[in-house]
Amino acid sequence: MVTGSVFGLIAGYSLAKRSPWVQSERMKIDIIEHEGPYQVGVIIGSLSKESINRRLANALTGLAPEGFEFFEISYADLPLYNRDFDADYPQVALDFKDAVASADALLFVTPEYNRSLPGALKNAIDWGSRPWGQNVWAHKPVGVIGASSGAIGTAVGQQSLRSTLSFLNARQMSAPEAYIQYTPGLVDDEGRVTNPGTEDFLRQFMTAFAEYTVRVLTVIPQS
Ligand SMILES: Cc1cc2nc3c(=O)[nH]c(=O)nc-3n(C[C@H](O)[C@H](O)[C@H](O)COP(=O)(O)O)c2cc1C
Repeated sequence: MVTGSVFGLIAGYSLAKRSPWVQSERMKIDIIEHEGPYQVGVIIGSLSKESINRRLANALTGLAPEGFEFFEISYADLPLYNRDFDADYPQVALDFKDAVASADALLFVTPEYNRSLPGALKNAIDWGSRPWGQNVWAHKPVGVIGASSGAIGTAVGQQSLRSTLSFLNARQMSAPEAYIQYTPGLVDDEGRVTNPGTEDFLRQFMTAFAEYTVRVLTVIPQS
């Protein structure tokens, strides 16, 4: 990352140029130019080896525009959080927070558990939010998507996740929403989407998420 002028172009986008208050002489601000590729941390809300959400995540990373790279952020080894850890965070939790902090953006791909987000995922988010004042989620560009076998495709679970991310001051893409009802074989072993309509929709979702990430990183200087 390098600091750039307010008139700099960012990955081909000229958002700052179009903003009248960014151009104001009275209100000069520095913006940050991110040098691509953007690094996106993928957080899968399921610990299952057979996870359909992992399959979905594999498909999504293949449908993203150029200039975006993905790495999974694992949280499977985190113990259950309690605030007694705050004085001396375990290495596994420090590593988890470092991985989140290193990402330019985060993509949550999660099932719905009992009309909420899965407990293991909530535990990981809690770890990232503490100790008080060291919340790693703040200002991160975030995308949320999920797959379930049920007809509402994780809609309620995503709302629970969004509520938590909102409190933690993450910068969530609110539209388009994406609730995927997973049918067997929707994503093959190579990560290809077998339904052309769904593939097209997911590609549009990833394009929107990429544009949103650039926009957030453009207008919100990152410290
Ligand atoms: C504890 C539990 C709770 C579940 N609750 C819901 C639910 O609220 N809504 C839903 O659509 N599916 C629910 N399911 C079904 C999941 O959608 C299905 O198991 C899915 O495959 C989980 O995602 P995964 O394969 O990525 O682990 C639940 C499954 C489990 C194990």
